[in-house]
Amino acid sequence: MTLTVLQVSAELYPLVKTGGLADVAAALPEALAAQGADVRLLLPGLPAFRESLTGECALAPLALPWAEGRAVLLRGRLAGMGRTVVYLLDAPGLFERPGNPYADETGQAYADNHRRFALLGLAAARLAEGLDARWRPQVVHAHDWHAALSCAHVAASRTRGRTQARSVYTVHNLAYQGLFPASQFEDLGLPPEHYAVEGLEFYGQVSFMKAGLHFADALTTVSPTYAREIQTQAQGCGLDGLLRHRAGVLHGILNGVDYRVWSPAHDRAIARPYSAERPEGKSGCKAALQQECGLAESPEAPLFSVVSRLTEQKGLPLVLQTLPDLLAGGGQLVVLGSGDAALEAAFAQAATRYPRQIARRVGMDEGLAHRIYAGSDVMLVPSRFEPCGLTQLYGLSYGALPLVHRVGGLADTVVDCTLEDLDAGTATGFVFNDHDFVEFGRALRRAFVLWRRPEMWRGVCATAMRQQFSWEASARRYLEVYRQCIGSTA
Ligand code: ADP
Ligand code: GLC
Repeated sequence: MTLTVLQVSAELYPLVKTGGLADVAAALPEALAAQGADVRLLLPGLPAFRESLTGECALAPLALPWAEGRAVLLRGRLAGMGRTVVYLLDAPGLFERPGNPYADETGQAYADNHRRFALLGLAAARLAEGLDARWRPQVVHAHDWHAALSCAHVAASRTRGRTQARSVYTVHNLAYQGLFPASQFEDLGLPPEHYAVEGLEFYGQVSFMKAGLHFADALTTVSPTYAREIQTQAQGCGLDGLLRHRAGVLHGILNGVDYRVWSPAHDRAIARPYSAERPEGKSGCKAALQQECGLAESPEAPLFSVVSRLTEQKGLPLVLQTLPDLLAGGGQLVVLGSGDAALEAAFAQAATRYPRQIARRVGMDEGLAHRIYAGSDVMLVPSRFEPCGLTQLYGLSYGALPLVHRVGGLADTVVDCTLEDLDAGTATGFVFNDHDFVEFGRALRRAFVLWRRPEMWRGVCATAMRQQFSWEASARRYLEVYRQCIGSTA
């Protein structure tokens, strides 16, 4: 019997993206479908989704837990995004806004986010109850706090005997929890008993994250190491007790890479194609990037890059602290990203002071991100914590060796250039243990040492580019989790 799965996400590459969640939300359904699952998506009716919806058909309107406004579920497909059927939660009063899915153009979180994302969860449960007479999911798979109320609503529907569906909740980042005042609980449309310690109450507040962690039938997160880390007090963000309690249904499944999008052999955004077998084009990509960013066009200078949200999580002060070493070694740096004002200002200042060695670009720029992976020699990912991380995986694919903190998914995907691993031909990057500038600086020195040995560098690049983080393997793991949930081996 074909397994029917509804994926619920607030982001989807390339239409709505603030980070790696969008890439995962786009790639996973296709990988599941390739293995025979019948997968559909539920998305909030954000302008970019609304504009791309084709062949739409309106299902029944949704009853809202509050008085004003209207919402209806639309079924259709997204233009240019294959054959996957999409349900769009059309509620213009909630979603037709500029800015990103969560905040306005000034970065201020929308005051009614609890309603916006509660309704997304409610819509998932209605689909599980059979709102669309032609299709209903056996498994509702919710991603991050924005979709987490799906799990509570599905559980409530099941208690009322309206569905048999199970829910799976994936934590992409435990640090973003979706916390709201307790007074907003009544807007969520949930049974009153859900506001409890054994529910979504969290120190006197409503926690969407906890709704997922408590009510989902199975939990996953995006790397095996992060699955262990979040069960510790140090990295559990106050939820480690609950995660330890649910350890029996918690799975660490590494994200994959969509190599149709992230492969230098056929990436149309980059100056020249290249591959592990034919790496010559990479030098052209580097020269093009140096030119585009106003850097000295020097093949000898190792080019370090950052493509990242500039937030506390990403540990970028280490890059700033070690800039003198990077410059003294003759290195160059490109930073693409926005976020924290102080970090933005610090990188801007550095770029103004050393315009031929340091460049920075603000905002989301998908094309430039591709050109940076292709043109760089090293991707810097010194995150304090990192559930999976995709930029190091893209760095590997493009032969831009990742320099990473040994944490979360970074620890699971990059092999340090120790003498043993160099000798064994298994090294793919540079890994440091303690999150301080001494350790980071040592890893940076290892990068320079290897750079001065071009033949070895080329060998490590080839190993890096041959790594395969396929979605196929990860999708197989998700399918096992779904089947366990519905208690079937079908
Ligand atoms: P996170 O989801 O925590 O931000 P990931 O490493 O999982 O981190 O994913 C980041 C994704 O966002 C990658 O696809 C990366 O290329 C992309 N990205 C980050 N910043 C930018 C930017 N400024 N412009 C374009 N893409 C970006
Ligand atoms: C989150 C995490 C990141 C992960 C991404 C996709 O944004 O911060 O580590 O790669 O989700 O799962």
